[in-house]
Amino acid sequence: MKANDGIYLLGIESSCDETAAAICHDGKIISNIIATQAIHQQYGGVVPELASRAHMQHIVPVISQAIHQAGIELNQLSGVAFTQSPGLIGALLVGTGFAKSLALSLNLPLIPVHHMQAHVLSNLIEKEDMTFPFLCLTVSGGHTQIVVCRSPLDMQVIGETLDDAAGEAFDKSAKLLGLPYPGGPLIDQHAQEGDPHRFHFPEPQMEGLDFSFSGVKTSILYFLQKMTKENPSFVQDNLADLCASIQHCIVGILMKKVKKASLETGIRTICMAGGVSANKGLRKALVENGQKYHWDVHIPSFAYCTDNAAMIALTGYHKFLAGERAPLSITASARATW
Ligand code: KG4
Ligand code: ZN
Repeated sequence: MKANDGIYLLGIESSCDETAAAICHDGKIISNIIATQAIHQQYGGVVPELASRAHMQHIVPVISQAIHQAGIELNQLSGVAFTQSPGLIGALLVGTGFAKSLALSLNLPLIPVHHMQAHVLSNLIEKEDMTFPFLCLTVSGGHTQIVVCRSPLDMQVIGETLDDAAGEAFDKSAKLLGLPYPGGPLIDQHAQEGDPHRFHFPEPQMEGLDFSFSGVKTSILYFLQKMTKENPSFVQDNLADLCASIQHCIVGILMKKVKKASLETGIRTICMAGGVSANKGLRKALVENGQKYHWDVHIPSFAYCTDNAAMIALTGYHKFLAGERAPLSITASARATW
């Protein structure tokens, strides 16, 4: 017999290199557990096969801990939500397989979640009175999107990157500077001490709301090749200014499109999601632009910006209320439109 005390949704995230589980009770997150895979650091990027194996090791303890932290029993669950797409296929399959087994054994509804939609809804975790519609700039290691969110389950991508994601732009620039993976947070750290106007990298001339970062990366590469020929210790001597200037350029590209999206749609509630939204320069720029253009700005806490299962559980909750269910024959998908 299930306790009749509301809806308890388990969310499982395994799309990349974090194994995570969370419980959502009637729209509120009551537990949120994450196991980060340190093994990839030594390889300079996520190794898919190692990620799958680490998910296999972590998934049972992570889910057990989420149930325990929530103070509930497995038989109190109302449904199981899981990241079905997009992501690394081997990694997604671990979460999907586990979610299906649990749903089958407990006779629970199975709810597939799109990882990028969940990133957008991470903005609702701490702000239950969010006003719709809002714009969300989703910036992660694999994606860069501007999304119009009209209601929890009504979203539309109005701009996205045509090549590298913003996180990749940070990580690849950091690699050129000899910094270890993932370099985004290190660029952020060094940028604190540097002059953002010391070096200038050209912004891409992209029409519309789409982004491009590959040109910036190439111009940084050519610039560094030229300068280190003249002075082999150029990077070490100018690390802080280089990081500040690169960050300034990437943030500038992102903010330009957000301004354009707000003007074109007339939407002034602006949110952010994804790992790159941890960047101090980007957060500052969004807040400053918010004051300048009278936007209502919301940025989730760091734990909800990066990959997490709380956003999967909350998205699953909204889908559960809308009656969305998947058959046990559902499988994971590396790429998926929404
Ligand atoms: O959303 P996320 O945790 O994982 C996915 O890619 O789905 O994003 C990871 C990305 C990496 O590229 C990482 O370098 C970047 O977010 N990142 C940052 C910062 N913190 C994380 N980039 C710039 N500044 C930061 N403080
Ligand atoms: Zn993500």
